[in-house]
Amino acid sequence: MSDKIKLDKHIARVLIDPVAIQQRIAELGSQISKDYAGRELVVICILKGAFLFTSDLCRSIDLLQKLDFMAVSSYGHSTQSSGIVKIEKDLSESIEGKHVLIVEDIIDSGLTMSYLVKILRDRKPASIKICVLCHKPSNQQQCVKIDYCGFTLEDEFVVGYGLDFKGYLRNLPYIGVVKPEYSE
Ligand code: IMP
Ligand code: MG
Repeated sequence: MSDKIKLDKHIARVLIDPVAIQQRIAELGSQISKDYAGRELVVICILKGAFLFTSDLCRSIDLLQKLDFMAVSSYGHSTQSSGIVKIEKDLSESIEGKHVLIVEDIIDSGLTMSYLVKILRDRKPASIKICVLCHKPSNQQQCVKIDYCGFTLEDEFVVGYGLDFKGYLRNLPYIGVVKPEYSE
């Protein structure tokens, strides 16, 4: 990890530094560009957590693409999934007949993503694939097929690069773990 990273006072340790994040995004972008070659894509950014990831990823995808946004809430202010997923903001255009790539920050229990896929499938897209920045497989309750995964993590609560704790710390340029004295 780079020595130049200034650690936020709430962070115990950095898991993934900015350089590693960008390297992985470049790999994902080139894989996605190959897989969808010759096709048009609708990239759906799941707000708020995926806003930074999507902004970098979409620029690394060399395809004709549209960008749309959806906001869902599943946790309230807790760090564990409630299982109740609410659409806070819906897409602005129809996805019928389109190739859809859902871009999400993290899959933990899988409850949010399985719900999202279900409601988007009902809208009859040509295809749906999932791209997540992080996956925490040990806590998965719902089986979700992840097509593109940035990083596989242990079961600990992470923040930064879009991921939040109670709405804070999304702006950190790295992915890190919050100090226990702040997260309890
Ligand atoms: P799931 O429904 O349990 O898969 O949780 C998915 C959502 O919970 C993600 O979209 C995140 O917003 C949030 N989430 C899960 N784990 C973390 C974490 O470690 N840090 C920050 N947010 C998380
Ligand atoms: Mg989220």
